[in-house]
Amino acid sequence: MSRSRGVRRQIGMSRIVITGSTGVIGRRAIRELHATGHHVRGVTRSAPGRERLASLGVDAVDADVFDEASLSRAFDGAEVVINLLTHIPSADRMADPSAWAENDRLRTKASAAIARAAQAARARRLVQESIAFVYADGGDAWLDEDAPLAGGGVTTSALTAEDHAREMFDGDTVVLRFGLFLGPDSGSTLATVEAARRGTSIAAGPPGAYRPTLWLEDAASAVATALSVPAGTYNVADADPPTNAEIDAALAAAVGVTALRPRTPGDGPMSRSQRVSSRRLREAGGWAPRLRAGTEIWGRITT
Ligand SMILES: NC(=O)c1ccc[n+]([C@@H]2O[C@H](COP(=O)([O-])OP(=O)(O)OC[C@H]3O[C@@H](n4cnc5c(N)ncnc54)[C@H](OP(=O)(O)O)[C@@H]3O)[C@@H](O)[C@H]2O)c1
Repeated sequence: MSRSRGVRRQIGMSRIVITGSTGVIGRRAIRELHATGHHVRGVTRSAPGRERLASLGVDAVDADVFDEASLSRAFDGAEVVINLLTHIPSADRMADPSAWAENDRLRTKASAAIARAAQAARARRLVQESIAFVYADGGDAWLDEDAPLAGGGVTTSALTAEDHAREMFDGDTVVLRFGLFLGPDSGSTLATVEAARRGTSIAAGPPGAYRPTLWLEDAASAVATALSVPAGTYNVADADPPTNAEIDAALAAAVGVTALRPRTPGDGPMSRSQRVSSRRLREAGGWAPRLRAGTEIWGRITT
């Protein structure tokens, strides 16, 4: 359990180590934290990863993210550990459950090794990535962080990662439940635009269902905000999450088609209506998204 959960503490310039540092959120978080004077190091397993971190002006550190001893060495001296590891399959493989095996391994085994290693390194704060699609279908109701969870499908391992971060680490744990990332270098965003150009919607749920979406730049600023808010769990999504119908209308307009053909609604977590509220992070840390990503991002990507 957190030793000071609920107690607000200011963290000044910190020594920070990030796992998942080279992905779409990791590299933005690094840019933001480095620019504000924190001393940031990124864990990577590859030469291209090291090059990417060097281009961002930060040091790389080698570690096997499934090995606690290796991570403990990487976290030596860190005051804050930020775990942004994912391995999300490409859009054409998402429907295949086996394509999610590595992502599940990261969210189960690696999250445990990271929490224990952060504890061994005596870090004072652990920030753990999670997702906003973990809630039960709420219809039109707003869902805060205490709303009933349903998990299931690819979201179950995200809840396991949350539990590991809270239970295996003794310092302040901040869990960020991110909405669907949207940005120009996100493979899934580009696949959504390509499907729209063919006149097809990728929405898994019915038109009236709410979908928490998030501009990647706003996701990065939420990671920075996570350094100073009280320990706890925070949703991170558009202030006013759009419905699938709103998203599809904005997307259709951006790619110049009349309307998108809806898919037959599925029954997985992504098809539930989740009108997620990020009010807690706004009130605790002043975080506010600059874009309503689900409806405002498309013009930036298609032009
Ligand atoms: N909330 C969301 O909607 C959400 C969240 C995450 C990702 N996504 C989507 O998923 C797609 C891919 O995301 P991404 O480009 O960030 O890549 P990714 O494949 O999800 O990788 C993210 C990070 O995790 C690291 N990683 C992955 N597997 C690893 C392993 N086995 N061992 C050590 N490190 C590992 C990657 O390092 P390497 O560079 O070494 O591979 C990278 O730093 C994008 O379309 C993105 O938008 C969405």
